[in-house]
Amino acid sequence: MLSTRHLMSMDDLTLEDIATILDRADTHRELNATSAAAKKHGSLRGYTIVNLFLEPSTRTRTSFEIAGKRLGADVINISGSASSIVKGESLVDTALTLDAMDTDMVVVRARAAGTPQVMRRNIRGSVVNAGDGKHEHPTQALLDLHTMRTSFGHIEGLRVAIVGDIAHSRVVGSLARVLNRMGASVVVAGPPAFMPARPDVLGVEVARSIDEALAGADVVYLLRIQLERLGSLQLLPSLREYARFWGMDERRVASLAPHTILMHPGPMNRGVEVTSEVADAVASRINDQVNSGVAVRMAVMELLLANREDLPAQPVKELLNA
Ligand code: NCD
Repeated sequence: MLSTRHLMSMDDLTLEDIATILDRADTHRELNATSAAAKKHGSLRGYTIVNLFLEPSTRTRTSFEIAGKRLGADVINISGSASSIVKGESLVDTALTLDAMDTDMVVVRARAAGTPQVMRRNIRGSVVNAGDGKHEHPTQALLDLHTMRTSFGHIEGLRVAIVGDIAHSRVVGSLARVLNRMGASVVVAGPPAFMPARPDVLGVEVARSIDEALAGADVVYLLRIQLERLGSLQLLPSLREYARFWGMDERRVASLAPHTILMHPGPMNRGVEVTSEVADAVASRINDQVNSGVAVRMAVMELLLANREDLPAQPVKELLNA
């Protein structure tokens, strides 16, 4: 059992909750790699899950959809451009509409930080934050932890170097503090305009160069420049210069210890924060992150829905047949 029935932020989860999710994800990951019959479960049959994606997404939306479908739930996708929000409907009214349809879970991604909290206040079902503005992206942090734990067998004691656009990253917003809580250390590096105003709040050290950040790293975590969040600000001289000073290339990979792994939440801009050769290198765990993503989201959906006080934990259909 988890201590919460919503996932807004990694701060909603205790260390015990995180271990429960990662253990359950291990089971799903194993089953997902076997036969079609084994990877499909009926544990969420009868539940309705709405994926409300008000911002573009490839892997996160698909991953939640596959996760829900593998568990036998009915999954409905609503994208921003196809919702009545473009006709001027408020977020509160959208939430009330989804609630009136007895939706059991809403997975929400939005440009504005705090959108998942508005949903939570207006629906009876569970709400999962799939990325809100520059704030948090908790299931990304969970799948990253799962990838690290699968690679090293533990999180405690790892040194994680996060390189790139730290200030605009909701991935860092969820990942950095939980790594600290779990006994890992985090160092960040990037152009000054991309550095967080309060690194102490995130619990990270700031390196002056990428090479300084890479020294002693077990994990190198690369981030995209989130151009859509920079507004009209001209924060960078050129992408070519960025690649030279802050990009991961083969020369920098050669400086790493042999056990060091490379991660990236995607979408990747090959040739900017990472060269194509490095993205496909043996040390790259980028596709493993995507693979863990489905297993982790299956675990999150099952465990949050099992924790509903206002709904039976058993699938509704089973209750009707009882
Ligand atoms: C991230 C996001 O949307 O926050 N991507 C993802 O969910 N895998 C990172 C990004 O957009 O750069």
